[in-house]
Amino acid sequence: MSTATNASRPQGLRDVLEGSRVVVCCGSGGVGKTTTASVIALEAARAGRRTVVVTIDPARRLADALGLESLSNTPTRVDIGPEGSAGEMHALMLDTKSTFDGLVRRYSADSDQAERILANRFYENISSALSGTQEYMASEKLYELAEEGDWDLVVVDTPPTRHALDFIDAPQRLATFLDHRLYKVLMTPTRGIVRAVNVAAQTVVRSLSKVVGGEVVADAIAFFQAFEGMEEGFKQRAAAVDALLGSSETAFILVASPRADTVAEAGYFASELANHDIAVRALVVNRVQPRFGAAGTGIGAAEARQRAETLGGTAIGSHFRALADALTMADGEDENLRGLTGQIAPAPVVRVPVLPVEVTDMDGLAILGQLLLE
Ligand SMILES: Nc1ncnc2c1ncn2[C@@H]1O[C@H](COP(=O)(O)OP(=O)(O)OP(=O)(O)O)[C@@H](O)[C@H]1O
Ligand SMILES: [Mg+2]
Repeated sequence: MSTATNASRPQGLRDVLEGSRVVVCCGSGGVGKTTTASVIALEAARAGRRTVVVTIDPARRLADALGLESLSNTPTRVDIGPEGSAGEMHALMLDTKSTFDGLVRRYSADSDQAERILANRFYENISSALSGTQEYMASEKLYELAEEGDWDLVVVDTPPTRHALDFIDAPQRLATFLDHRLYKVLMTPTRGIVRAVNVAAQTVVRSLSKVVGGEVVADAIAFFQAFEGMEEGFKQRAAAVDALLGSSETAFILVASPRADTVAEAGYFASELANHDIAVRALVVNRVQPRFGAAGTGIGAAEARQRAETLGGTAIGSHFRALADALTMADGEDENLRGLTGQIAPAPVVRVPVLPVEVTDMDGLAILGQLLLE
């Protein structure tokens, strides 16, 4: 039966992308998340889709290549050349602070409440510096584009972090924070009925003031009071973002390098995602040592070393020695990756070789795109 055939046919990265409306590129620091996210958006656009990529702190030259001048929450169209005329690629550089401001405006009862929060110094701090805010706003932006925009594919890059859960838990974390007892206590100091709570609040405020300074605490209390009534909206939004991240239309693509330490981190990422019932839908191993010669027809490391010895002292002998070293390195990388590829199976694994140049322009992205989707 055809369904059985489809089910047994191994999926490639192209199938994963075609079957998704949202792609999240995650992985540890410096492995190539921003580059991969941009390449995926470009290739999907070249295949005729209307795509948008949310980048986070892209390298300056990549930002230039994508036509991104500054932080902005408005997608800009990227010129993908004549080949891409059927599709469109857009990009933006996530602006954490204005995304948060947008949420505050959306859930405020009126513009007065919004302005009181936006002008508050405690808010200024949490909206840009609280740990997890960048992750939260990346997932928030993703939700907004996926639900309210007219996109065939939304690709989101993620901030460098050791924990996958920093990204997927961030929306819920704010909801939990708003449920926190301390928050509730601070919200009530002006209500006469609960004297006991008032006393407790004053005690909390006094001890907090000693540690962080009275002004900070006063700002925080003013913030929480200004926030009153907005918790429900924030919590519902967090739940909706959570549902989108867990939906079958969303594909998490894990980016890793073949180095033993980053492979271990990637394995940790994959298990954290699994704890959240999210499967890694594809693994991109970036910057691998290329194997020379077509797969299966080239010679192996042992044979190359053998020939290097036989031809010792000749120019061709040194070439074989260099080849033997390169192949030994590639074998070592495969060894590093064995456990991880087993862990994420049956998800496809794509190996992208290290390029001799930095990937900082559209041509570089297109070369990487061919390697990624070949
Ligand atoms: N296959 C490759 N070959 C050569 N250079 C590459 C390759 N992939 C990525 N790079 C380069 O490596 C650098 C890091 O890539 P990138 O910024 O995409 O990583 P990242 O995971 O987003 O980093 P961070 O965690 O800091 O956000 C960039 O300069 C990029 O051009
Ligand atoms: Mg990055």
